[in-house]
This record gives sequence, structure tokens and C-alpha cells, in this order.
Amino acid sequence: MRPGRRMRPNPASPRLVRSRSGERSELWTETVGAPPPVYGERWTEAEGRTYRLFEPGRSKLSAAVHHDWSGPLPAPGERWLYLGAASGTTASHVADLVGPAGRLYALERSPRPFARLLALSERWPNLLPILSDAREVRSYAGLVPPVDGIYADVAQPDQLEIVRANAELFLRGPGAQVLVALKTASMGRERPPAEHLARSETAFEPFFNLAPSVKLDPFHRAHYLVGGRAEPALFGGRGAADVTPRPARPRGRSRP
Ligand SMILES: C[S@@+](CC[C@H](N)C(=O)[O-])C[C@H]1O[C@@H](n2cnc3c(N)ncnc32)[C@H](O)[C@@H]1O
Repeated sequence: MRPGRRMRPNPASPRLVRSRSGERSELWTETVGAPPPVYGERWTEAEGRTYRLFEPGRSKLSAAVHHDWSGPLPAPGERWLYLGAASGTTASHVADLVGPAGRLYALERSPRPFARLLALSERWPNLLPILSDAREVRSYAGLVPPVDGIYADVAQPDQLEIVRANAELFLRGPGAQVLVALKTASMGRERPPAEHLARSETAFEPFFNLAPSVKLDPFHRAHYLVGGRAEPALFGGRGAADVTPRPARPRGRSRP
């Protein structure tokens, strides 16, 4: 980006900005963290702020915004739980979006990417890594407070069940958000991607007020972003206070 270029904030998430140059449109997040780049992404200064290029080819969330995703997005001051954070490519951007006053609880079960996530958290003070399996919700219940949103990118056959179990336990209540990077190839190749999407939406509709899903091709083949806001039915008609998780003994955690 050239110096002096105008950055236009996303109305739903003002630390997410867009720059335009002729036909070219680029997305950036205002960084919370310190250099160097996380995965080789470009950094730039504009209007007294520091931004990181949010590349659609590297992040499904960025690809969804490029495709005009109209649903919820992480916003400043919010707490989010990230399932399948890997080494932090997208997680670092989500931490940027919630900003210094927000928190990102970043869950990853594989030790190798987790080690890089842990190192990243030294430079992103609002990113709190947790080494755990997203299917074992009780194992990290004592580490994660009620959250405003869950972003899931676990690429597992039971990804919807994983999201629902975490949403029931950790979302703060009706109106809280979920975003799922749906990898249809993980759900079996006997059905076409569009049918997996339709079945996933049908499974979620009783519990979430879904935004229109977006297809992430050509950036991420046969992936969709599915998401929306929690309905009271997710909590069995109860208020958020009734579903607040009770502390449990953690399996792994890097920092308090
Ligand atoms: C597609 S990658 C995530 C990429 C990452 N979200 C990004 O955009 O930077 C999926 C990740 O989910 C993790 N994962 C898969 N199943 C999991 C589970 N049950 N609990 C926690 N992490 C899981 C994998 O180890 C892997 O790192």
C-alpha cells in the first residue's frame, strides 16, 4: 500500500479496514502485536496506525469478507474463543479485530503448531493460547469465560457438533455469535459441497439466526463461511447465567 492511501473501516468491525487502488481491493487489520510478520504478511503505516495485510488466500475469514460476508465479525472489546487456531495465521488477525481491550482464547490440540502459537502470544498480549481438544469442552471450561463469539476452523467430520457443544457452554447468551469455516471435504465426498452446506445450515437453524453463508472459492476450495447469532433455543431457553461453565482442571495452558 502506498503511503497516504485511505483506509475504510468495516462498519461491523472497525479495526478491519479496506484500501482500494484502481481495481485492487485489499483488507488489513490494525495490529495489536509487535513485528516481525506472523506468516510473511505485509505491514504498513497509515493515518498514524500500523496495519497487517489480511490475505484471503491465507485466511478463510478474510476470504469471506472479500466475498461480502454480511454476518457478524469480531469487534473491539469482545471476547472470542477460537477453535483450531493452528500456529496463529488467522487467530492473530482475530486478536487484532478484538483489539487491546478484547481477548482471544485460542485453542489448538496439536503440540507443534501450539508451540508457535505460544511464541506468538508473547507478541500479542490479548491472545491466550490453550492446548486442548475442542471435543473435551469440560477440560478447558475453567479457562474460558463466557464469550461474545466463537470462530471455528477445525476441519473435522464432526465440526458442527464441536461448534454446538462449545457454543452451548461458552457463548454468553442469545445474540452471541458463531463463525464456522466449513470444510465440506472433511464431511465426506459422497455428497457435493452445496449439499453439505444445506445440511449444515438445516442443523444450525434451530439454534442460530444465520447470515447468508458465503462460498470461499477460489481462495479455499469447497469451503464456506457459515455463521450467525445464537437463539435462546441453544441454551434450552435458559439465560446465559445458567450455562456459564464451572471451573474444571485444565489439560494445558500457557498463561493465566
Ligand atoms: C485448517 S487448520 C486451522 C487453520 C487456522 N484456523 C488458520 O486459519 O490459521 C485446523 C486446525 O484445527 C486443529 N484441530 C483439529 N481438530 C481439533 C480439535 N478437536 N481440537 C482442537 N484443535 C483441533 C488442527 O490441529 C489444525 O491445526
